Amino acid sequence: MLAVNHLSHSFRNGTEDTPVLNQIHFDVGKGEMVALLGSSGSGKSTLLNLMAGLMKPTTGSILINGSAIEKMNENQLAEFRRSHIGFIFQSYELITHLTVRENVELPLVFQGMKPKLRREKAMSLLTKVGLGEKTEMFPSQLSGGQQQRVSIARSLVTMPTIVFADEPTGNLDTKTEKEIIDLLIELNETLGLTFVIVTHELEVARRTQRVIQLRDGYLVEDGAWAGEDE
Ligand SMILES: Nc1ncnc2c1ncn2[C@@H]1O[C@H](COP(=O)(O)OP(=O)(O)OP(=O)(O)O)[C@@H](O)[C@H]1O
Ligand SMILES: [Mg+2]
Repeated sequence: MLAVNHLSHSFRNGTEDTPVLNQIHFDVGKGEMVALLGSSGSGKSTLLNLMAGLMKPTTGSILINGSAIEKMNENQLAEFRRSHIGFIFQSYELITHLTVRENVELPLVFQGMKPKLRREKAMSLLTKVGLGEKTEMFPSQLSGGQQQRVSIARSLVTMPTIVFADEPTGNLDTKTEKEIIDLLIELNETLGLTFVIVTHELEVARRTQRVIQLRDGYLVEDGAWAGEDE
């Protein structure tokens, strides 16, 4: 499903290359839910952005369903991301002048799906995430937790191969955070969706089947959550 092979990444600061990820290597199987943990600056977002094809690694390879995404050109990658990859941002990234339903339909518009069918799909997912009554409202009329639910529905509407989330509960209070984690776990269990979730919250790590930990750009742990503090 996902294979990260000896992935390294450096950012260029002026004339100097700063290594941020070093020889990261792991696989994620279909239906797995993985928490990606590590202190601030350890390289979590960089790794997630590489796996989601938002940037290219310095060396190494990322295979999703057997396709090496770092080898694709811009058009191939855009097309591949549209059908295989879902992404949930900490700050929701909803389009303010579109309704909740239109936001969720948007990835299907890009796929060229007919209006009636994409409306049905959006409505069904919005009902699933508990927003069946809010579909014609605008994002600004929703709470943070509700906006994140819209963003989750949008990331899933294309039935992607894998969903990446970068601190999806980072802007939410503890109670709403728990609701969002419950929802992600339910979607993982009922739909068999594969998730990689970047988080600072140990609560998320406790509840996923597997935890991968980064420290200073190195993968230092990969396994079941052992309960130690960060
Ligand atoms: N575009 C960039 N240019 C240069 N350096 C960058 C860039 N993006 C990230 N970095 C550096 O890479 C390192 C890892 O950043 P990254 O955003 O991946 O960390 P993170 O683990 O997601 O941290 P946080 O928990 O604070 O979100 C940091 O030292 C950061 O300064
Ligand atoms: Mg980050």
